[in-house]
Amino acid sequence: MLDLLVRNVNLPDGRKGVDIAIKEGKIVQLAKGIEAAAVSEIDGQGYLASPPFVDSHFHLDSALSLGQPRLNQSGTLLEGIALWGELKPQLTVESIKQRALAMCRWSISQGTLCIRSHVDICDDRLLAVEALLEVREEMQPYLDLQLVAFPQDGFLRYGRARENLLRALDKGIDVVGGIPHFERTMSEGAASIRELCEIAAARGLRVDMHCDESDDPQSRHIETLTYETQRLGLNGRVTGSHLTSMHSMDNYYVSKLLPLMCEAGIHAVANPLINITLQARHDSYPKRRGMTRVPELMNAGINVAFGHDCVMDPWYSMGTHDMLEVASMGLHVAQMTSLKGMQQAYDAVTVNGAKVLGLEGYGLEPGCYADLVILQARSPIEALQLKPARLYVIRRGKVIATTPEQQRSIMLGGQQQAVSFSTGLI
Ligand code: FE2
Repeated sequence: MLDLLVRNVNLPDGRKGVDIAIKEGKIVQLAKGIEAAAVSEIDGQGYLASPPFVDSHFHLDSALSLGQPRLNQSGTLLEGIALWGELKPQLTVESIKQRALAMCRWSISQGTLCIRSHVDICDDRLLAVEALLEVREEMQPYLDLQLVAFPQDGFLRYGRARENLLRALDKGIDVVGGIPHFERTMSEGAASIRELCEIAAARGLRVDMHCDESDDPQSRHIETLTYETQRLGLNGRVTGSHLTSMHSMDNYYVSKLLPLMCEAGIHAVANPLINITLQARHDSYPKRRGMTRVPELMNAGINVAFGHDCVMDPWYSMGTHDMLEVASMGLHVAQMTSLKGMQQAYDAVTVNGAKVLGLEGYGLEPGCYADLVILQARSPIEALQLKPARLYVIRRGKVIATTPEQQRSIMLGGQQQAVSFSTGLI
């Protein structure tokens, strides 16, 4: 007897009208017309069943703090960091936790069940670490939360960052972070990368650095991060987040850099919503877009994911943690409007993000965890076009969120007519 049988869904790879059989929290079979009894059944109506959305770059400690203690006037990264510094003395474990839990609920309702969140460790009380470790534990039945020890004020620039980072890792933070472009000099940035990668290698941890989040074409910390990854044998376990300086780099230099990143198995995470607004604030016209070179990275064989980064905090006033909005902005900014490009944008908020996090059992195949989202759309491209309702969000074979099917009607000439947003065009 199955626990759950999901009938008649389309899959992101193009398979149509498939049934998904689930038992003991795992997918046991995917096929058309499965004949087996189940405790419960869902009629998928030919809608898209997707593996859950993955947000590979987020900040749960600052989410939903917009306006505290004031708004970012310049719209820059640097004023955002200063503003967050003004708020830090007023934070409590409870306030961070309540905002983070509210954010997780928003995420779950929209089918995002895997989040990598950076946690600021440049607070000697480590309040955010304490709060988010509790959130990770409480949310564990519902989502995978991976935490990065993030020295927001600089690993070498902030006096107690090294000590705090090690304390955070000892408490159970999962990943080693960094911010080399915020150190005092380029050479200190490089030194911070070296030491942080050594810490990760010694502890067997992954690395995810905010790297070159700058409009400066000479900001080349990604080169050092790639070198240290090779030197320490961290291949496949290191992520460069943002990488916005690549947008402004010389084309010849990028042509040398991309193969090096590929060799080292570096993952890249672009944050399109945030970097289209934060970057190029010093430009007149034309204004640079400020997102890293997503199609070129992908074409070079590098795994690229999209992150949401922020929701209503000192860096970004918008957002609902909808990863389809992230993918949509990413494909616009990178001009990924071909069929292949749109499919790649969908991958960037699902399977590619899972590779960044190193998730096991992710995907819609027998043996994978029964974690999936059924969307009111027929395909990944239609999902990007319509940003539809997440009808069912399923975790380990149990429905943990539902949204009713959207139905709109208009009154024309005194007649009520249903409006269908299903296109079926491609
Ligand atoms: Fe970030």
